Amino acid sequence: MQGVTVVDHPLIQHKLTLLRDRRTSTKNFRELLNEIGMLICYEVTRDLPITQIEIETPLTTMKAPVIEGKKLVFAPILRAGTAFLDGMLNLVPSARVAHIGLYRDPDTLESVEYYFKAPEDVAQRLVIVMDPMLATGNSAVAAVDRLKARGVTKLRLMCLLAAPEGIAHFRQAHPDVPLWTAAIDSHLNEHGYIVPGLGDAGDRMFGTK
Ligand code: URA
Repeated sequence: MQGVTVVDHPLIQHKLTLLRDRRTSTKNFRELLNEIGMLICYEVTRDLPITQIEIETPLTTMKAPVIEGKKLVFAPILRAGTAFLDGMLNLVPSARVAHIGLYRDPDTLESVEYYFKAPEDVAQRLVIVMDPMLATGNSAVAAVDRLKARGVTKLRLMCLLAAPEGIAHFRQAHPDVPLWTAAIDSHLNEHGYIVPGLGDAGDRMFGTK
């Protein structure tokens, strides 16, 4: 599928199985999400452009590669998107963070923004949007809509699990934004949950149910 990368590294697949298991504790669930966040982020950033700078080693001078451009922005969609954040910041400690809070209006079913805080110069940076469960795709589409409205042009979407319906919706709305996921599951059920999935990621992560 164009623009969709399934990150099938054995470490990620193993950890994903532990996450799916209903017996996994809240503590372990949270730790696993952080570990997986770091591993998927490694793949999402694999092709970042690099530039050569001149440095001095203890022996000589040399041209050596560094990542080009401004620091990355990690943009978790509240609240489950924060699951990946610590792991990703372990990997890229200087990244900036943009928090995006959205809820669904029960009458209009539209996504309503209740919180948005991003670096002032976000439009000049590459933004990685984090939405662990790409179910209907509504939140991810709305988050990217809002970032584009603020001038962001370089975007990537990072998920853990995706439903085919969510991928189709997101790719149709934002064909210019590539996405990464650890697995594509079978379908959405009538309540909008991914099947077989792992249940409600936010509830399992924060122990709210
Ligand atoms: N959000 C979740 O947390 N789980 C799903 O299965 C779908 C959306």
